[in-house]
Amino acid sequence: MLYNVDVNKMNRLMEENKDVKQIISQLLENHHTTVSTIAHEIRNPLTLVSSALQMIQAQHPEVLEFSHWSQTLEDVEFMRQLLEELSTYNNGNTLHYSVFSIGQFLKNIAISFAISLDEEESDIEFSSRVPDNLGDFTGDKVKLEEVLLNLLRNAKDAVAGEGTIRLYAERKRKSLDIHVQDNGCGIPKEHLESIFEPFQTYKEDGTGLGLSISKRIIEAHGGTLSVASKEGDGATFTIRLPI
Ligand SMILES: Nc1ncnc2c1ncn2[C@@H]1O[C@H](COP(=O)(O)OP(=O)(O)OP(=O)(O)O)[C@@H](O)[C@H]1O
Ligand SMILES: [Mg+2]
Repeated sequence: MLYNVDVNKMNRLMEENKDVKQIISQLLENHHTTVSTIAHEIRNPLTLVSSALQMIQAQHPEVLEFSHWSQTLEDVEFMRQLLEELSTYNNGNTLHYSVFSIGQFLKNIAISFAISLDEEESDIEFSSRVPDNLGDFTGDKVKLEEVLLNLLRNAKDAVAGEGTIRLYAERKRKSLDIHVQDNGCGIPKEHLESIFEPFQTYKEDGTGLGLSISKRIIEAHGGTLSVASKEGDGATFTIRLPI
């Protein structure tokens, strides 16, 4: 596993020597292709397993009484999700650009998130503040939406059923800042750096890929993803995109 310090070292070596740069770039490309291929090849039969299980349940509803049935379905779904996230992580810095109104984009996400809370009859109080002056932005809309959903999902986990979550944005002179704030469990100081590493999770059912994927996507846009948090005192994640 490469950590940030190794990546910095690798980038320095690549800057110093053109041959090293070419070899490392090729190795990285091969590595990405291998991971994508493996994820893709395992996902196909897993989808078949998932469909077969659903068919069994439809034809034999009595399986629902079997105590391990729902756990098995959940495990298969988790594996499917993990593989999907692995290929997204791998493709995190390949962007498909378009120009869109960032204000409208954020408002739509806020509405969908509010609806999902409503459907679950959640006690979480969600609010958003998106000013009208945010203007257009050039970026990968699908990937940026994934980042916001990751942050909102983490905030939801952190408040554990009740609490407040805020999504707000502001246009600064050189950047567009988007914040996702919650008043949940917060993050211990010693975890603040490591949560952005792949597979670093403190949840029973987490994959630990959400924040590393998100950071990669934001950095591919030339931006930064940072966090301010204290244990027991909520967290604010900030996406800063250059404009
Ligand atoms: N808003 C938050 N408040 C408190 N802790 C958080 C928050 N967001 C992230 N974390 C911590 O950071 C860890 C890593 O988050 P990340 O999104 O990368 O993975 P995850 O949520 O555990 O799993 P998943 O891959 O399903 O997203 C979490 O396990 C959690 O401990
Ligand atoms: Mg997460």
